[in-house]
Amino acid sequence: MLDSRNWFKPLPEHQRRHLSASQRDGIHIHHNGRSLINFASNDYLGLSNHPAICNAASRAASKSLGSGGSRLVSGDAPSLHQLETSLARWKGFEACLIVGSGMLANMGLLQALANRHTHLFCDRLNHASLVDGARLSGAINHRYGHLDIDQLELQLHKHTGARRIIVSDGVFSMDGDCADTVALLKLAEAHNTLLLIDDAHGTGSVGKEGRGLTALHALAGHPRLIEVGTFGKAFGSYGAFILATTEMIAALRQQLRTMIYSTALPETLIAASQAALNQIQNGEPIRQLHARLAYFKAAIARLGFMPSTTAIQPLLIGSDQQALALASQLADHGFFVPAIRPPTVPDGTARLRFTLSAAHSEQQIDQLLTSLRTLL
Ligand SMILES: Cc1ncc(COP(=O)(O)O)c(C=O)c1O
Repeated sequence: MLDSRNWFKPLPEHQRRHLSASQRDGIHIHHNGRSLINFASNDYLGLSNHPAICNAASRAASKSLGSGGSRLVSGDAPSLHQLETSLARWKGFEACLIVGSGMLANMGLLQALANRHTHLFCDRLNHASLVDGARLSGAINHRYGHLDIDQLELQLHKHTGARRIIVSDGVFSMDGDCADTVALLKLAEAHNTLLLIDDAHGTGSVGKEGRGLTALHALAGHPRLIEVGTFGKAFGSYGAFILATTEMIAALRQQLRTMIYSTALPETLIAASQAALNQIQNGEPIRQLHARLAYFKAAIARLGFMPSTTAIQPLLIGSDQQALALASQLADHGFFVPAIRPPTVPDGTARLRFTLSAAHSEQQIDQLLTSLRTLL
C-alpha cells in the first residue's frame, strides 16, 4: 500500500503548512471561512485586481488561452518580444528574456551558467530557487554569512578560477533587507566574476520609479550583472524575466532549459504584465506604496520589528509556537499575517512577515497596529 510515511518524515504540527488562504481582491483574503485584511501579500502595488490590468488580460483571453508550445517551437508571441523590449528599457539593460516563473528563471540560469568547474558564492539567506539552481548546476558552492561582504571577499581570494559567480537576492524575501549591490559589483569587478541579483521583491517597489535596487544605485546594465525580476509580486501577475547584455540573453535563449522545455506564458499573462508595467510607469501606485510604508514605519517604533526599509516588514518572534499563536490571534482580530517558520527561515527565527501594499488604507494600518500593541 502507498503510505507517504515511507517516503516523507511526518512533520510535527508546528511545522506543518496549510493550503487554506486565497486572495479575494487587492486587500482581502479568504482564510478558513473568514474574510481577513491581507498583510501578507507580495502584491505590493495592489495591481492584481486593477481594472486596466484585468481588462487587458480578459481581452487577450477572449482570443486564446494556452500558448500551445514552448518559445522555441510555437509559443513565441510577438507580445512577448514587445514586453521584453519595454522591460529592458525600463530596467536599464540591453536585453531581456521572459520565462515562466522566478523559480524557473533562477534554476535555469544557474544550470546554464555554472557547471562542476564553477565556483558560486551565495548569500546564506538566498531564496530557495537560487539554492536549488546552485544544486542543479553541480557547481562548487560557497555560502557566505548573510550580507557579510568581508567573508565573501575572503572566499573570493581563496577560491580562484575562471568561472565564478556571486549570487544574491536583491531585497531578501523573508527579512526585507537589501544586498549591498554596490559592494557586490565592486567585488565582481575586482575578482573578475559575474554577479547574479534576484530582485524579485525590489522590482516595482524599490526606488521612486520602482526600477529596483540596481537601478537605484545606477548599476543596471553593467556588463557583469545579470538580474532576475518577477511578475508575480509588484506586477500583480505571473511569470518572470532575466536582464543582461544582448550577447548573454542571446546565449540564454539557446541554453536556458527551463525556458526551452517549458510551455511559454499565455498571452493573457503577457497582456496583464504589459498593462502592469504601464501602471508602474505612471508612478502613482509606487508613490502610494511609499506613503503607506512611511506611515507604517513612523508608527512601529519600539514594537520590535526587524530593520527594513522595504515593503517587507518582519517581526521576529523566535519560537514556531509563539509565532503561530500570534498569527492566530491577529486572525481573530481580522488580519492575515502568517507565521514564517523553519525551514523557510533559520531555526529559532520564526517571524510574522508583514507586507505593505499601495492598496492598504491608513485606517487599516492603524487598526492592525492597535491589535498588535494589544496582543504584544
Ligand atoms: C527572491 C525570490 N526569487 C524568486 C521567487 C520565485 O518567483 P516565482 O513565484 O515567480 O516562481 C520568489 C518567490 O517567492 C522570491 O521570493
